[in-house]
Amino acid sequence: MKIGILTGGGDCPGLNAVIRGIVRIVHNNGGQSLGLLEGWRGALSGDFTPLHPENTDDIIFKGGTILGSSRTNPYKEPGDVEKLIATFHRMDLDAIVAIGGDDTLGVASKLFNDHQFPIIGCPKTIDNDLSSTDQTFGFDTSINIVMDAIDKLRTTTESHRRVMVVETMGRHAGWIACYSALSSAADFVLVPEADVDLDRMCNLLKSRRERGKQYGIVVVSEGAKLSDEYVTLHLEKDDFGNVQLGGIGESVAKIIEERTGIETRSVTLGHLQRGGAPSAYDRILGTRLGIHAGRLVVEKNFGKMVALRGTDIVAVPLADAIGEMKTLDSAIMQEMEEFYHD
Ligand code: F6P
Repeated sequence: MKIGILTGGGDCPGLNAVIRGIVRIVHNNGGQSLGLLEGWRGALSGDFTPLHPENTDDIIFKGGTILGSSRTNPYKEPGDVEKLIATFHRMDLDAIVAIGGDDTLGVASKLFNDHQFPIIGCPKTIDNDLSSTDQTFGFDTSINIVMDAIDKLRTTTESHRRVMVVETMGRHAGWIACYSALSSAADFVLVPEADVDLDRMCNLLKSRRERGKQYGIVVVSEGAKLSDEYVTLHLEKDDFGNVQLGGIGESVAKIIEERTGIETRSVTLGHLQRGGAPSAYDRILGTRLGIHAGRLVVEKNFGKMVALRGTDIVAVPLADAIGEMKTLDSAIMQEMEEFYHD
């Protein structure tokens, strides 16, 4: 048995733990693993690096992915899917494990449906927005990074009696913003799932100031929507048609300063949220997903994605796992709401 492993889309802490888990299971069953470099680009070109327990046993603490990543979409250019299949046969591979988000797994699902391609998916994203899995690895590390950043921003914000607006990633789901706001006792949070109520936010900041709180922290998800008059449009798109988000924090800071008269600054945490070593939780979740993805390969149970359900790792059909974004549920939003009353 010879398998290819690839990591596609935005990188995320815990990817190396998954790779290590898969390689271990394949090795335990007498197989060989190759790392396809830079996502689907490596599956097209055949660029690879050999993987075995000796060179993957100590990668668990590293952030990012030792295989590199890209947002290459083999369904974009005509002929690329055929090229990918030809490369797969030329390399004498028996299966591919694709570790990625909605886009990478969407390609995996199409390859399975259209060509019965022997493929297994493993969900990853700091955004935590994939349906069919209770949580994605990378999310825990990410919210800890944001929480740590807010703890640091709090001291300078308080010294200067300012409001600090912290813009987080997460695309069109507010998981990172909501969880990091809750863990940091932020004064207000703006998420894509709820209407942005600027009046309420500004009134709250003003009344808290009047009652003696000397500073304010507002967390804004990059995907939250302001009305057209405030929006800065970023039209850059990737191979999958995703619009590049970012910049809303600055607009929100201007609005707060104008409406409240309180000096306000903004910080966009950006790619810091994906960097550095994975948390213990993400190392363990990544390792478990890798082990189960490896087992599915050994069983030739293709067209599946490994997923976390409760505390179990289960296999779900790839087709069911993609397409639907998992947004913040109403229960957590209501809990969050309790802290935004006057
Ligand atoms: O999907 C993960 C993510 O980090 C999003 O939160 C963010 O909008 C996007 O990727 C950034 O992508 P890039 O690394 O291409 O700038």
